[in-house]
This record gives sequence, C-alpha cells and structure tokens, in this order.
Amino acid sequence: MCICVARTEMGFGSRSLCCFLVAVSVIMIACICSADELAGHVNKSTSTMKWKDKQRKCNVFEGQWVYDDSYPLYNSSACPYIRKEFDCLKYGRPDHRYLHYKWQPKECDLPRFDGEDFLRRFKGKKIMFIGDSVSLNHWQSLICLLHAAVPLSNIIQETNSSISTFTFQDYEVSVMLYHSLYLVDIEMEQIGRVLKLDSLKNGKTWKQVDVLIFNTWLWWYRRGISQPWDYIQEGDKIYKDMDRMVAFRKGLMTWANWVDSNVNPKSTRVFFQGISPSHYNGREWNEPGVTNCSKESEPISGETYPSGLPPAAIVVEEVLKGISKPVYLLDITTLSQLRKDAHPSSYNGFKGMDCTHWCIAGLPDTWNQLLYAALISL
Ligand SMILES: *[C@@H]1O[C@H](CO)[C@@H](O)[C@H](O)[C@H]1NC(C)=O
Ligand SMILES: *[C@@H]1O[C@H](CO)[C@@H](O)[C@H](O)[C@H]1NC(C)=O
Ligand SMILES: *[C@@H]1O[C@H](CO)[C@@H](O)[C@H](O)[C@H]1NC(C)=O
Ligand SMILES: *[C@@H]1O[C@H](CO)[C@@H](O)[C@H](O)[C@H]1NC(C)=O
Repeated sequence: MCICVARTEMGFGSRSLCCFLVAVSVIMIACICSADELAGHVNKSTSTMKWKDKQRKCNVFEGQWVYDDSYPLYNSSACPYIRKEFDCLKYGRPDHRYLHYKWQPKECDLPRFDGEDFLRRFKGKKIMFIGDSVSLNHWQSLICLLHAAVPLSNIIQETNSSISTFTFQDYEVSVMLYHSLYLVDIEMEQIGRVLKLDSLKNGKTWKQVDVLIFNTWLWWYRRGISQPWDYIQEGDKIYKDMDRMVAFRKGLMTWANWVDSNVNPKSTRVFFQGISPSHYNGREWNEPGVTNCSKESEPISGETYPSGLPPAAIVVEEVLKGISKPVYLLDITTLSQLRKDAHPSSYNGFKGMDCTHWCIAGLPDTWNQLLYAALISL
C-alpha cells in the first residue's frame, strides 16, 4: 500500500540522515503550451492579466523571505489530512515564526494562492505528483490549501498500490500522488532487486494526467540497509554499484526521453520539482558543528545560501535543457535552502529528527503558490 511504503521511506529518512539531499536549481524552461487549452474555460480576471505581464520580466525563484503576519495561508489544525510526519503544531512545535514567512521575489509579487480559483480552472482535470516522500509532502500541502478554500466540499479519498487520490467532487478535480523513488523502475529478479536505469514502465498511468509534477533525488545516494536495490542495470550490463551522480543523470535522461516521446503538450503540462534540500550540515550555512535543524527558528536572510548550489543542480539543469517538449522547472532549491527553520526536526509523530521533510503548514505551501503562479501564467 502506498501509505506503508511511504512510511518506511520516512523512517529511513530520519535514521540515515539524508545529508546527500543537497540541492539543485536553475533554469526555467520556457513553456510554449497553452494553459487555456488545458484549463478548459478560463476566467481571466484582471489581476491574472497583470500578473502575467509582470511575470514575464521576473524570475520568481529569486528573492528572499519576509515576515508577514497574514501568513500562513490556512489553519493547519483545521486540515484533517496532515500525516503525523508533517504536523509540527500538533506535535508541539513551540516556535511559530516559521509559519509567517512569505516568499518575496525580487522583481514582482506572487499572486496569493486562491484555492477556489484553482479548483474552478482545473474542473474535470487530474493533477499528479510523482516521486518520493518529498512529493508526498508537496501533495499534502496542496490538499490542505484547497481544503481550506472549500472546507465544506465533498472530498473522496482513494488509495491503491501506488496511487493515492483526493477528489474534490464538487469541482471534479483529482489531486494524486504516485509513489516512485527513482522514477525509473526497480524490478525483482533472480539475482535480487534491480534498479533499471533505462526502464520506465510506470509512465503508462502518467500519460492520462493533465498536470504532472515530478521529483526524484532523495534516494540516489542511499546505501546499506536503506538502499532498496541490489544491482543497477543499464542496457545488458549489470553493476553492483556505480557513481551515484552518474546513475542519477542516466535515470533522469530516461525520464527526459519518456517526456519527449510520450507527453502531449496540448493536454499535459509537465513540471520537474527540482531538489528539496535537507539541513544536517551547519557548515553549509556557516554554523560549523551543527548537525541538525533542531535549533533553527529563523530562515537565512538575504537571497543566497552560503554554500551555494550543489552539483546535482547542474545535472538537472543539463538534463532539462536537452528535453524538447516544454518542461517547467519548479526551481525551489535556493528558496528552500534558505528555510533551515522549516523542517519538523523532532516535532513529528515518530519523534525522530527530520531535517529533510517540511512542516505543513509551511514551506511546501510556497512551492504550491509557485506552481499556481506558473499554471495561471503559462
Ligand atoms: C469571472 O469571475 C468573476 C469573479 O470571480 C465573476 O464575477 C464572473 O461572473 C466570471 N465570469 C465568467 C465568464 O465566468
Ligand atoms: C484553527 O482550527 C482549529 C480546529 O478547527 C480551531 O480550534 C482553532 O481555533 C483555529 N485557529 C484559528 C487561529 O483560527
Ligand atoms: C489505481 O487508481 C488509479 C486512479 O484512481 C486508477 O487509474 C488505477 O487503475 C488504479 N489501479 C488499480 C490497480 O486499481
Ligand atoms: C541535534 O543537534 C543538537 C545540537 O545542535 C544535539 O544536541 C542533538 O544531539 C542532535 N540530535 C540528533 C538526533 O542528532
């Protein structure tokens, strides 16, 4: 079941410190497909038009965090869907400033998230997050944001082997999560579990979806007991292991080829979520000796993260550049790096130290605000 798999994954996350989850970033590949076509009937309010004009000149991923009392965007205690891993308030997080930060792009303002508008635009559509537990985190935030906008609407929940779906019945909008650690396949064979760098069979299900938001990174450097495969296969060759960054690039290339040969840009919008950073290494933000996020209650001020972008950023940038279909990089890396204060640390339902995932309400709401901004402006 999806939930159990995700829980196991999270357990590993807390134990094996996902120090490798550093970050990625960069480029926004211009998207030429028409959102109107996708969204069906679109009610273009004037504020949307203004936003579109401004957005053309503005990189929304460059900016800083500012304290704003009108945040958070919803009362997380009134969202009944938050898993115990992310519900920081419920598990007693004493400092609340982390809830009140707003992402302020340098050259424009983000439109405020309007859940009802979102649901109206996407009537009859399916939105799917595909990836590891960071996708679960992102998906849960979107469900809370939408639920807060229409708290009395009917919501149906369904879960089967790898897909969890929340359907906002009155709007016929499905918000789905497809659990996949690497996007490419892991198969059980006689020799053991094989990570197949050039095989992507799950794509059949993805093709029917209107908005796809992909993410993978967290698991590529896992070793030992938390490594969920025994061999890596590429073509006819079987390896016991290989340089993980090389494997990551090959896996992403397979995904990129899948996008190019399978996605119809007229009916499906594709996002790549980039890489969500963890905070276990204080040297990255000039606090050597700090080994977790337990004492962090403030974001890093300013626009840059002291240690800069990680090498994986370059890999993502290069792979996305090679895709000919429109793919939008939801470039959350730097803005998330700045939020060392936004992880659950020990304020979660399993009491482990978690500086990999994010509190809900919290940072993933901004990811969804950026997703919404992209969806209404493209
Ligand atoms: C567009 O939205 C506005 C405000 O939400 C509403 O008053 C108007 O009737 C809508 N127009 C159409 C064509 O749906
Ligand atoms: C948040 O929701 C909870 C549960 O519905 C409620 O008890 C609480 O008063 C709400 N808080 C605010 C600030 O609205
Ligand atoms: C799982 O759910 C999805 C979406 O509701 C559906 O398309 C798919 O056929 C289901 N798979 C199985 C095995 O039931
Ligand atoms: C977290 O860091 C604090 C000091 O910064 C340390 O005392 C504590 O042992 C660490 N906890 C874990 C679980 O690593």
